[in-house]
Amino acid sequence: MKVLILGNGGREHAIGKKIFKDCHSVDLYFYPGNGGTNQIGKNIEDHHTTLDLCLFAKKNSIDLTIVGSETFLYDGIVDVFKNFGLAIMGAHYLAARLEVDRVFSKSFMKKYGVRTPKYKVFSSYQKAVDFLEKTHYSVVIKTSGIAAGKGVILAKNKTEAKNALNSIMIDKKFGKSGNTIIIEEFLKGQESSIISIFNGKEITPFLSAKDYKKIGEKETGSNTGGMGTIVPNPYMTNEVWMDFKKNILTPTLEGLLLEKLTFFGFIYFGLMITSNNVYLLEYNTRMGDPETQALLPLMNSNFFHIIQSALLQKKVSISWKKLCSCCVVLSSKGYPEKYESGKIIKGLNSLMEPFYIAGAKKEKERWITSHGRVLNMVGLGKTMDEAIKMAYNKVKKIHFENLYYRKDIGL
Ligand code: GLY
Repeated sequence: MKVLILGNGGREHAIGKKIFKDCHSVDLYFYPGNGGTNQIGKNIEDHHTTLDLCLFAKKNSIDLTIVGSETFLYDGIVDVFKNFGLAIMGAHYLAARLEVDRVFSKSFMKKYGVRTPKYKVFSSYQKAVDFLEKTHYSVVIKTSGIAAGKGVILAKNKTEAKNALNSIMIDKKFGKSGNTIIIEEFLKGQESSIISIFNGKEITPFLSAKDYKKIGEKETGSNTGGMGTIVPNPYMTNEVWMDFKKNILTPTLEGLLLEKLTFFGFIYFGLMITSNNVYLLEYNTRMGDPETQALLPLMNSNFFHIIQSALLQKKVSISWKKLCSCCVVLSSKGYPEKYESGKIIKGLNSLMEPFYIAGAKKEKERWITSHGRVLNMVGLGKTMDEAIKMAYNKVKKIHFENLYYRKDIGL
């Protein structure tokens, strides 16, 4: 079997490593891949467009393509591959709007009774300002377009809210993504990520994860792609799981079936757990990064077989290790803004699994940093404390100039 994995981060390295471990007979290809994926498979070079990738898959008899990064979904790669009769795991273009088009996503939630914070949509700056005048709660202002994962501003008071409106709708900080905006009620609570697999008929959730999104400790500073994750999320009690299944997962599935938005791929529920209820903040139509890196080492089941079952619309059941997992992201100092690359990494060669390469390359037997998020160190343990300790023990073994990581993942 030949499998092609699309993306270039730690998530794609983790997917590749898990499949490699489960099925030695699978040949792995990555596009564009990174220094880590090149060690377990082959990074494809010089294939830039969706059509190029499709022709590559056809010519090389790729049996299955797994979409890691969302950017490929927004380009409609799933639709193109399907037209060519190629098996691909990911949301098609219309379904990917659940992630890429926030107004579409909120209307879907509203239509099917998926519990989500209350909101209003505005294309007129003045009407948005008038609404804010009458609002007596903290709000989150979101661009309708995904704006490369940005375009979400938390405003604690009216002045901050108006400043956010100005920067989005007048100064066009996020370009056309901000032509239409959502003003959403801000809810206080704990966030939780539930990644799940969709076989076109049923959605099977993975273990819960807690993502640490901010660059600074105690969730301060700029938003990042994610600086760490723990699994399971301690706030996902049985009661919250039941609430999630009844008020979020079940109506989502109903909506997907009724709207004929079914696909074979992943759905990621970004939740907010408040003192009363669980709410859906957003859908993503892919696996999370770095949630995937903490989740997959806990999966007993053969991931490749799970994906194959989903593609055949068979029931998916997943067995998990009864352990906790903690993933710490090592980044280049300055990320998510300006940072330097090209720094020599020491300590990788003697490291115990699991760990993943996110933004590093191998040059003449030396590992060199190449992106903002560089490495993912994962610790597993019978308790969360053990898992955290193991992850940070691994972190201590790694050295490169301008290394930065959060010291409070899981704490
Ligand atoms: N860790 C958040 C995301 O993948 O979007």
